[in-house]
Amino acid sequence: MPENSLESWQGRALVVGGGGIGRALHAELSQRHPSLVVTLATRHPLSIKEWPLDLESPESLATLTERLRADSHPLRLVFNATGRLHGPSFQPEKRLQHVEQAALIDAFAINAAGPLLLAKSIEPALSRHSPFHFASLSARVGSIGDNRSGGWYAYRSAKAAQNMMLRCLSLEWARRLPLATVTLLHPGTTDTALSKPFQSFVPKDKLFSPERAAGHLLDVLLQQSPSDTGKFLAWDGQDIPW
Ligand SMILES: NC(=O)c1ccc[n+]([C@@H]2O[C@H](COP(=O)([O-])OP(=O)(O)OC[C@H]3O[C@@H](n4cnc5c(N)ncnc54)[C@H](OP(=O)(O)O)[C@@H]3O)[C@@H](O)[C@H]2O)c1
Repeated sequence: MPENSLESWQGRALVVGGGGIGRALHAELSQRHPSLVVTLATRHPLSIKEWPLDLESPESLATLTERLRADSHPLRLVFNATGRLHGPSFQPEKRLQHVEQAALIDAFAINAAGPLLLAKSIEPALSRHSPFHFASLSARVGSIGDNRSGGWYAYRSAKAAQNMMLRCLSLEWARRLPLATVTLLHPGTTDTALSKPFQSFVPKDKLFSPERAAGHLLDVLLQQSPSDTGKFLAWDGQDIPW
């Protein structure tokens, strides 16, 4: 068991994003780690136990900072499970002529800027002397080295931008917060609203339930320690090329 294993930690774990994988991560973490107070932060809280949070709103992020500053539980883990591949205003582009400025900005706002601004807003609650995990869902299609089919300009490049931002973060925190571990994770294709329109291309045995994906992601994450900070890993623990 790595020295900084969550098994023995007490404090707060925050899962951000109330979608398919986010809710499954919240359930799995609560079940596996009863010593942690596990909280879901989402744009659409379903109960007063869930915290309201919109990563595209500076006011909402500032409220999170204040809430964590006043929190009696030390912050141990933040897991970003937000993201957007399609929406009312855009669909993944099949070719250059489908690219639109508004869709590029929208995709970057949540998939790239969102996780970095989340890290900025929680940083004041971190201590140099406490182990801490910051994990964020990326996607294999955000790998530049692994891109063999093209398309999906906005989503792919926003995930690649997230990877660079969190790699920079891992280097900064290695100096200032040496017990922090930053990890970028690819969940595998998972049966959620995000992947729904694209599932016909996926063989049944390659489509994970959110519960299965959450189990894989936590297995991989909790093997990481500060000396591994800044990695981009798949659900099975394999390194993904940048
Ligand atoms: N599913 C897959 O096959 C797959 C594959 C590779 C990578 N991923 C990545 O895994 C992550 C989770 O995706 P998922 O499959 O669980 O999709 P999902 O069910 O669509 O969940 C994504 C969540 O992100 C939230 N979100 C979007 N903008 C937000 C904002 N400004 N502030 C707070 N939350 C916001 C959405 O919240 P609302 O409900 O409020 O809109 C939604 O609940 C994403 O980063 C995705 O790119 C997924």
